[in-house]
Amino acid sequence: MAAATAWRCVAAVVVGVVIMAAVAVVDGLGVNWGTMATHRLPPKVMARLLKDNGFKKVKIFDADATTMSGLAGTGIEAMIAVPNDMLAAVGDYGRAREWVKENVTRYSFDGGVDIRYVAVGNEPFLKAYNGEFDRATVPALRNIQRALDEAGYGKRIKATVPVNADVYDSPASNPVPSAGRFRDDVAGTMADMVRFLNRSGAPLTVNIYPFLSLYGNDDFPLDYAFFDGGPPPRPVVDNGINYTNVFDANFDTLVSALKRIGFGSLPIVIGEVGWPTDGDKHATVPYAQRFYSGLLKRLAARRGTPLRPRARIEVYLFGLMDEDTKSVAPGNFERHWGIFTFDGRPKFPLDLRGAGRPAMPVPAKGVKYLPRRWCVLNPNVTDDDAGRLADNVGYACSHSDCTALGYGCSCGALDARGNASYAFNVYYQAQGQADAACDFQGLAVVTEDDRDVAQGACNFSVQVAAAALAGAAVAAAAAVACAAAVVAALLVLV
Ligand SMILES: *[C@@H]1O[C@H](CO)[C@@H](O)[C@H](O)[C@H]1NC(C)=O
Ligand SMILES: *[C@@H]1O[C@H](CO)[C@@H](O)[C@H](O)[C@H]1NC(C)=O
Ligand SMILES: *[C@@H]1O[C@H](CO)[C@@H](O)[C@H](O)[C@H]1NC(C)=O
Ligand SMILES: *[C@@H]1O[C@H](CO)[C@@H](O)[C@H](O)[C@H]1NC(C)=O
Ligand SMILES: *[C@@H]1O[C@H](CO)[C@@H](O)[C@H](O)[C@H]1NC(C)=O
Ligand SMILES: *[C@@H]1O[C@H](CO)[C@@H](O)[C@H](O)[C@H]1NC(C)=O
Repeated sequence: MAAATAWRCVAAVVVGVVIMAAVAVVDGLGVNWGTMATHRLPPKVMARLLKDNGFKKVKIFDADATTMSGLAGTGIEAMIAVPNDMLAAVGDYGRAREWVKENVTRYSFDGGVDIRYVAVGNEPFLKAYNGEFDRATVPALRNIQRALDEAGYGKRIKATVPVNADVYDSPASNPVPSAGRFRDDVAGTMADMVRFLNRSGAPLTVNIYPFLSLYGNDDFPLDYAFFDGGPPPRPVVDNGINYTNVFDANFDTLVSALKRIGFGSLPIVIGEVGWPTDGDKHATVPYAQRFYSGLLKRLAARRGTPLRPRARIEVYLFGLMDEDTKSVAPGNFERHWGIFTFDGRPKFPLDLRGAGRPAMPVPAKGVKYLPRRWCVLNPNVTDDDAGRLADNVGYACSHSDCTALGYGCSCGALDARGNASYAFNVYYQAQGQADAACDFQGLAVVTEDDRDVAQGACNFSVQVAAAALAGAAVAAAAAVACAAAVVAALLVLV
């Protein structure tokens, strides 16, 4: 009996793997893999997650050796990056050459990493940076491409710069895409950069976020953020084109800005696009699902924008996983961009393959968790402790991720006691369940009873084990992995 079950399991895994290997995502679709989290899944688990879901392209934000080790041998094409804080340094050609040697050449072997792009900086001209990287970016771009060329990779690997969509706009007096132009303070830099990209045969990379158009702008017509909404109450009509979604309008504003300086056909890669699921009233699973559904349908149909209707567009979703240490300066939604949760569970069905049938993505396999226990408010705490409690909750939240507690968020309906428990737990988990992390001056206790933490839509999480431990535990998780593979195989078969 046991043997037969095991055999069936093996068969199911084989079927699942064979089928999954055959189904790739929509042509040109990639995903951003960010790592700003207190706990990371082992790189091999992450690489498997990418492969199981058919991703053939990935974008990362550095060239971290651990991440690269996960990608090695997978055949997944990678965009790796020089972070903003290294731009000035690689303005020195010798440093650029070292960067390429250590982060490109080192992985250029059979079974290494299939690097296709080097992103030089990340949104370096963002208004919030006040010009800090304006002068360093183009010299860094030139040096990295030159070093790639000199090392013999120039034809295959292109240096590009992912810019934020705030580097261009239309004048308030004529707010239509065809009036697009680069922002005054970076217009000269953008022109230099674009001229260089054109010469080296590289694309311009841009991050476009319809969610951000909606966020913090109560007058923004909600439907215009999606791909299925029809024209907003006052349609954006531009030279006979009716723009029905902000993504198209935004992309074509860039096309027009490029045309204005003589590079109207420069290839454009979408470096980031996506929708968060928590941390704001519009950051919800239903909205995210609606956004991705429209976006993926569009990509599957190979339909471009009005100004580039037939362009095959390369798009990197943002992002793969939730990241609990991302800065929340732009908003609490920042830690909830994942199409997977922090532990690799899919959040909602997606039609990644463009088959016309959304399905739950394949979850991460072999995830090892910390023990099932939580840190909660001590039941003996009374209203007399209110002051101390507030201080301790404040401490917990300033050292961990309480972004789900806000108004309209997944844990926004908790009462004060629930809030305190949530905060204590998220801190305790972030600290790897260290005993000392669940004291809070005697206001907190550890519980192993999940009834203490059942809060409906609000999840009291248990963190994943540190990567090193989890790697060794893959075997122990085989039964779980098998169940997941069977489910995955069934999903593919239906
Ligand atoms: C290679 O990339 C890593 C990770 O981003 C970085 O820490 C390192 O400094 C880079 N190497 C060189 C020689 O610049
Ligand atoms: C862009 O590059 C192409 C091919 O290298 C070249 O033929 C063209 O003249 C360039 N465009 C401009 C405006 O410089
Ligand atoms: C664009 O919208 C306007 C106003 O709603 C409408 O009159 C016109 O027929 C539309 N044009 C196209 C090409 O759909
Ligand atoms: C719970 O915490 C959030 C975030 O700190 C706060 O906005 C909310 O008012 C709190 N709710 C209660 C009932 O204390
Ligand atoms: C509540 O119980 C803890 C032990 O779990 C103790 O340290 C603390 O003093 C108690 N607090 C009150 C207010 O009784
Ligand atoms: C909470 O976890 C359950 C199962 O673990 C999941 O189905 C649910 O979507 C999660 N909710 C949130 C808000 O993450």
